[in-house]
Amino acid sequence: MIPLLIVLFTFAWGARIYFSLYRPPADAVQYYVTGKQWMWKTQHPTGQREINELHVPVGQPTKLLMTSEDVIHSFYIPAFRTKADVLPGRYTSIWFNATKPGRYHLFCAEYCGAEHSRMIGSIVVQSPEDYQKWLASVPVPRRRPRRASSSSPSSPARAATRRAARPRARRSRASTAPRCASPTAATSPPTNSTCASRSCRRAPR
Ligand code: CUA
Repeated sequence: MIPLLIVLFTFAWGARIYFSLYRPPADAVQYYVTGKQWMWKTQHPTGQREINELHVPVGQPTKLLMTSEDVIHSFYIPAFRTKADVLPGRYTSIWFNATKPGRYHLFCAEYCGAEHSRMIGSIVVQSPEDYQKWLASVPVPRRRPRRASSSSPSSPARAATRRAARPRARRSRASTAPRCASPTAATSPPTNSTCASRSCRRAPR
């Protein structure tokens, strides 16, 4: 009887923790996380976006709704004992309630390619006042209005004009913008706008 009671006690204890881990409280605020080789993109319920960072207020139950754009990643905040796989084509979620302001490590905990070890970031926990100030300081990206559909009568002519203008624009950009993957990249670091591709990110530093 004694071993059976011990087993039942530890089972009930473990089950309680398991359910509290996977069932966010009803008042949890939902944030969005997208994993991508090799960065974390996050978005606040109010629209603000971040890369490799997430600001949250202290004492707020925070739920993360996560997915991946490419391969399997794993969202891991060691200080919070929070970790969950992030899968392409599927949503996973996890929640936490940060109790102490500060900056905490964020890791990718699932091998996801050449720069897996650099897929790192921070969770910034702030007081509610500082968090509101931070939210106000970050512009919310606006959704671009949809263009008129291509079936409009004047559009074939416009498309032809665009096609004619495009090669020239491309050529002129190629001659002025620094090629990030070129050997000169080491001496003149390219700007973000010209260096978003993977080959650029692999350029010598
Ligand atoms: Cu993403 Cu490892």
